[in-house]
Amino acid sequence: MNIALIGYGKMGHAIEQIAVKRGHNVVLRISSANKHEMDATHLKQADVAIEFTNPAAAKENVLQCLSSGLSTVCGTTGWNEQLPEAEAAANKNNVAFLHASNFSIGVNIFFEINKSLASLMNGHTEYTPSIEETHHTQKKDAPSGTAITLAEQIIQNIGNKKRWLLSDANEKDAIPIIAHRIENVPGTHKITYSSSIDDIDIIHTAHSRDGFALGAVLAAEYIAGKKGIFSMKDILGIK
Ligand SMILES: NC(=O)c1ccc[n+]([C@@H]2O[C@H](COP(=O)([O-])OP(=O)(O)OC[C@H]3O[C@@H](n4cnc5c(N)ncnc54)[C@H](OP(=O)(O)O)[C@@H]3O)[C@@H](O)[C@H]2O)c1
Repeated sequence: MNIALIGYGKMGHAIEQIAVKRGHNVVLRISSANKHEMDATHLKQADVAIEFTNPAAAKENVLQCLSSGLSTVCGTTGWNEQLPEAEAAANKNNVAFLHASNFSIGVNIFFEINKSLASLMNGHTEYTPSIEETHHTQKKDAPSGTAITLAEQIIQNIGNKKRWLLSDANEKDAIPIIAHRIENVPGTHKITYSSSIDDIDIIHTAHSRDGFALGAVLAAEYIAGKKGIFSMKDILGIK
């Protein structure tokens, strides 16, 4: 498979290593300096695009890949409200689009544990849920896309929680998310249900970027040649 890497930073490099190990060719590497090479002629050399840039650039990059006829995997976080435009463009161009706030297989299993735990906690109003996430200091968005996904899953399963807040304030209908930025942390997410009697914690700790990179390559392998909108659940066979 020929891959166009849109974004050749920490994730782009990690993805290239894993893609090459799995027998793929990286035919295009785009960063800010050579953005002008991201045209239809260059993109057409690839079977699939993998986009990991930043929240301000992601929509334009993804739309350009899709309109050039490339199925596209995107891991850039912090632009969720614009995802429907990308999904519509994928359908219009008869190609595939897959966005995930987190490509790690472990985190996607953690998402399922989070949903199950939240549904068990529904009605146990003596427990207050909260989320803490920690990432490296270069991360541009806060809270992390993964923390937002975790919060939305809790909101869907716990009747009295309606929204999340980037704050440690204790508001009755909100889930507080606390974001820490510490040098060299690939990504840690902890959910706590706290009561005066006890706490329940679940935690996922990434040891490196390799899990995100492998998930992105598996996603690219899965969507190449397909049409439509996919998620990590499709890759992992989670119903
Ligand atoms: N979904 C997941 O599993 C997951 C996992 C890890 C990270 N992420 C997210 O992925 C994104 C990238 O993370 P990273 O750690 O790789 O960041 P990074 O190291 O800062 O790399 C970003 C890359 O994008 C390039 N870039 C910036 N603006 C661009 C534009 N307009 N067009 C093309 N390329 C552009 C940068 O080029 P220059 O350096 O030349 O500016 C750089 O090569 C972030 O949003 C992060 O939160 C997601």
